[in-house]
Amino acid sequence: MRLPLPLVLLLLLPPCVLTSRPAKRSYSTHDYYVLEHLPSGAASLDECVNNLGLEVVEQVGELRDHWLVRRRKQDWYVRTEGDPVELLRRMRERAGTGSVHARSEPVHVEGDGDGEVKSTAREVASRLGIRDPTFTKQWHLVNDEFPEHMMNVSGLWEEGITGAGVISALVDDGLDYNSDDLAANFFAEGSYDFNDHEDLPTPKLFDDHHGTRCAGQIGAVKNDVCGVGIAYDSKVAGIRILSGPISDVDEAASLNYGYHNTSIYSCSWGPSDDGRSMEAPGYLIEKAVVNGIQNGRGGKGSIFVFASGNGAVHDDQCNFDGYTNSIYSITVAAVDYKGLHPYYSEACAANMVVAYSSGSGNSIVTTDVGKNKCATTHGGTSAAAPNAVGVFALALSVRPDLSWRDMQHLCVRTAEMINPEDPDWEITAAGRPFSYKYGFGRLDGYKYVKAAQDWEPVKPQAWLDVQPIQIANGTMDILGTMSGGAPITTEGVRSTFTITQEMLAENNFEGLEHITVKVWISHTRRGDVEVELVSPNGVKSVLAAKRRYDNAITGFPGWRFMTVKHWDEKPVGEWTIRVNDQGSEGESGNFLGWSMTLWGSTIDASKAKQYEVPFLASLLPAPHEDVVTTTTILPLTTATKSYPKPTSHLPTDHGSVEGEATKAAFSNKPIATTPTVQDSITPTADEGWFPDMENLVSNQKWFFGAVGAVVVFGLSAGIFFWRRAVNRRRRAQYSTLARDDDVPMSSIGAGGGRATGQGTKELYDAFGEVSDDEDDVDEHTGLTAGRPEDRSPGGLGFHSGFLDDDDPESARATHTSYRDEPEDPDHLRSGSSQPSRTGSPGSSGTGSWEHASQLR
Ligand SMILES: *[C@@H]1O[C@H](CO)[C@@H](O)[C@H](O)[C@H]1NC(C)=O
Ligand SMILES: *[C@@H]1O[C@H](CO)[C@@H](O)[C@H](O)[C@H]1NC(C)=O
Ligand SMILES: *[C@@H]1O[C@H](CO)[C@@H](O)[C@H](O)[C@H]1NC(C)=O
Repeated sequence: MRLPLPLVLLLLLPPCVLTSRPAKRSYSTHDYYVLEHLPSGAASLDECVNNLGLEVVEQVGELRDHWLVRRRKQDWYVRTEGDPVELLRRMRERAGTGSVHARSEPVHVEGDGDGEVKSTAREVASRLGIRDPTFTKQWHLVNDEFPEHMMNVSGLWEEGITGAGVISALVDDGLDYNSDDLAANFFAEGSYDFNDHEDLPTPKLFDDHHGTRCAGQIGAVKNDVCGVGIAYDSKVAGIRILSGPISDVDEAASLNYGYHNTSIYSCSWGPSDDGRSMEAPGYLIEKAVVNGIQNGRGGKGSIFVFASGNGAVHDDQCNFDGYTNSIYSITVAAVDYKGLHPYYSEACAANMVVAYSSGSGNSIVTTDVGKNKCATTHGGTSAAAPNAVGVFALALSVRPDLSWRDMQHLCVRTAEMINPEDPDWEITAAGRPFSYKYGFGRLDGYKYVKAAQDWEPVKPQAWLDVQPIQIANGTMDILGTMSGGAPITTEGVRSTFTITQEMLAENNFEGLEHITVKVWISHTRRGDVEVELVSPNGVKSVLAAKRRYDNAITGFPGWRFMTVKHWDEKPVGEWTIRVNDQGSEGESGNFLGWSMTLWGSTIDASKAKQYEVPFLASLLPAPHEDVVTTTTILPLTTATKSYPKPTSHLPTDHGSVEGEATKAAFSNKPIATTPTVQDSITPTADEGWFPDMENLVSNQKWFFGAVGAVVVFGLSAGIFFWRRAVNRRRRAQYSTLARDDDVPMSSIGAGGGRATGQGTKELYDAFGEVSDDEDDVDEHTGLTAGRPEDRSPGGLGFHSGFLDDDDPESARATHTSYRDEPEDPDHLRSGSSQPSRTGSPGSSGTGSWEHASQLR
């Protein structure tokens, strides 16, 4: 029986699905999944969902071919008869040929007046007719005492550049659109509340004031309330995600929300800044970000601005945060009133610029929640980011045609060095000063916008992948199980790779911009590990420096670091990565492998390719490119989290403590001068996923599970489609996997690092029920109604992840400083209406980020 069905895509869906605002969720009655349906498959979306008894809720934000689907809870029970590999074989026979692959997958308040010294602020106010009462206290706009330290935008205002026509969205905890200081600039169409699924981002919790304050910095109206925003004629939208748990689906949608109209997404949040967390956006969120880059703003790319983080006091570094170390983010750290480095502001090689925020006696003065209320204690890096956003809004108002990379180039080129005596500065190969604390320097609004006016747009993006290099047979499977690798001795371990001119030409690669480096390192104490990348020209990027409080035993399972320090450097020659630890008694680890991607501009723009987010990106060795699939179900089970409030790790004295400019961010102790060079093995191009899998004993169980899951899905849908023929070698591989099938699936999900292979684990968990159960199964559909006691919400239930977190008792106990008590008891009710959790241990420890890190 062949099942080639013509495409009837989307036609049966009500058109409003594509345009309407996200639907309310009903977690108590339904399980939600994401279905990635590639139109190139043989079956229509409709056929897929109908056969599975699913219901399409809506497209996942702006992600094409990704559908949020749901299914009533009591129906959801998937079983398979006997051996999934056998089923796979039968499926293949029926269809004749084909292969199946799994693919699864975010004040200085000196009184004004008193006839005192000359005030530039007052002169500016009078020239521009600014009557806002706190304007003269907004030192970040005009700094009377330290005039070299301010965003320096008043000269632009005088030229009439005030941000008109540009929309920035505050992805935050709410936005007081009723404030007299914001109402006139509020962009309702681009606003949404993803926590409560309402149209407007109303601040509701007692501490929902952060988004409003940040919005004021960008778009506070020039009127008689508080102060003004940097782009006071621009519009601001509010996207509320920080006031409660948020699923990956909603986070993905939030980062693309209104992205045709909204230009800039101001994001002052991320994984906990506790110096112990290391978390990156999940597959779906990464896809949304790339979607924003490729399709947002009419294809010029959404501008994502991320605050570098407030955890420097805990040795936290922005390279341990997958949002701030993304090449798609402009990462902004803070400097204070005197231009000094505030002790909270995180350093790392991914920092691009600094903008002004709290410290050395002054904080940011801006709008607050409430009628005519002004904030005077706003600060942290999360107040630096919106200051940069304001400048970018001014630039886009005069140059709306600039791409996301143009905006980054302008940062690199126009940022100004401050505190030149600071030992953290180094000169890059391109001759620019760079510092882990300040990035390329302070963002000067005037300089930036003037440069933007004359900027020649860069050519499209190109990249050059250095495939994973295995060290001493190091491997990591999909569960995050690492084996092999070279022991990290006191001298450290070094590995090299040479980039040639031919490689650049082959990859249509011209000018270097970002570099991402992925490492596989096992270690008994992650905080001890130091990682450095040294360029052919001897420029060193510290990617990881030691972290006092990071006791994690999970190492770096394919963790991606990023550096902007090699921007415009000529990349030809030998690149060296060095891994070292503190040599602490009783702590040790292995360096298993690394890979590197150079990002830059094309030689020939007409040959530019479009980047696709790789699936299974963290395996060592790399999975073969042919691992492609057609249909996937991703449960949201493990993907719901609560972000800490941006201020949760901001020290309370952030505004008063004097900053510094005398300390290097990371100790400059050179790593051993005679490092051990290990055997490096670079897999050949045609060595793929399946041959590699053969070496990974523990992997087989997982893979078995995944194949089984996909098979069951295919069977039950009554449809299956193939993209590619499979070769005999791989077919044989399937059979070898069949021998090893006695591991209860539910026990597998518990292991591994959340940072890697995450999406895949989720796919796996979704079918955690696909175990060796013997009840009879519907021959045709592969589905059967489960006995209630068999239903394992741990494996399937949407809420199990954040149920733990939402427990008000534990919330109070563990997150006192930032947890919001849900005002709306619905949060709790929908969670606890789950049946008792008898299910898989796979769900434990998969709750919110800070939850996971607190447990550590
Ligand atoms: C600030 O802007 C002015 C023009 O308004 C410009 O002359 C100056 O160089 C800029 N930078 C500083 C640090 O003042
Ligand atoms: C948003 O952009 C779309 C497409 O460019 C346009 O049709 C629409 O009018 C815009 N909406 C608003 C409110 O500006
Ligand atoms: C890696 O594996 C190969 C083949 O199995 C073996 O010959 C070699 O000795 C191994 N290398 C190390 C460093 O373990």
